[in-house]
Amino acid sequence: MKITLRVNEQELTWEIAPGALLIDSLRDNGLFGVKRGCETGDCGACAVLLDGKSVNACVTFTGAAAGREVLTIEGLGSPERLHPLQRAFLDCAAVQCGFCTPGMILVAKDLLDENPNPSEGEVRKGMAGVLCRCTGYRKPIEAVLLAAERMRNGAGGTGGTGGA
Ligand code: FES
Ligand code: FES
Repeated sequence: MKITLRVNEQELTWEIAPGALLIDSLRDNGLFGVKRGCETGDCGACAVLLDGKSVNACVTFTGAAAGREVLTIEGLGSPERLHPLQRAFLDCAAVQCGFCTPGMILVAKDLLDENPNPSEGEVRKGMAGVLCRCTGYRKPIEAVLLAAERMRNGAGGTGGTGGA
């Protein structure tokens, strides 16, 4: 079957098999920031935003994205113009192996879009669905709080990758 959808602000038409999963469709189209972890909806490594809300792409049918907007980490910022969350993850050294980082950042974006001034507890709760095999939770939480503060103060992302 054919579906049209928007992915990272690009209108696309995909030919998909019935039952195709969003994780496979996105990765088949080169979006490897969508990580393949548990594939059972439990780890959050494959999290993407569907109409702005985080979903685990391994348990979402591609057909459910028809007519909707998907955002993956590739569409959030660029090396020249990082999203404030990406900037804060670098500034806080909140990345170890990086496998969980795209999911963490996208789930955090959903959280901050809903609540621009979360408490630490609210960030912990909001991020609980993304597991980090490197067990690095403290710094990502600091990074989300820092990004929230910068965004409230009108600071955008910055270019470059320094400060990591
Ligand atoms: Fe999708 Fe783990 S790979 S939740
Ligand atoms: Fe390695 Fe989280 S940084 S899994």
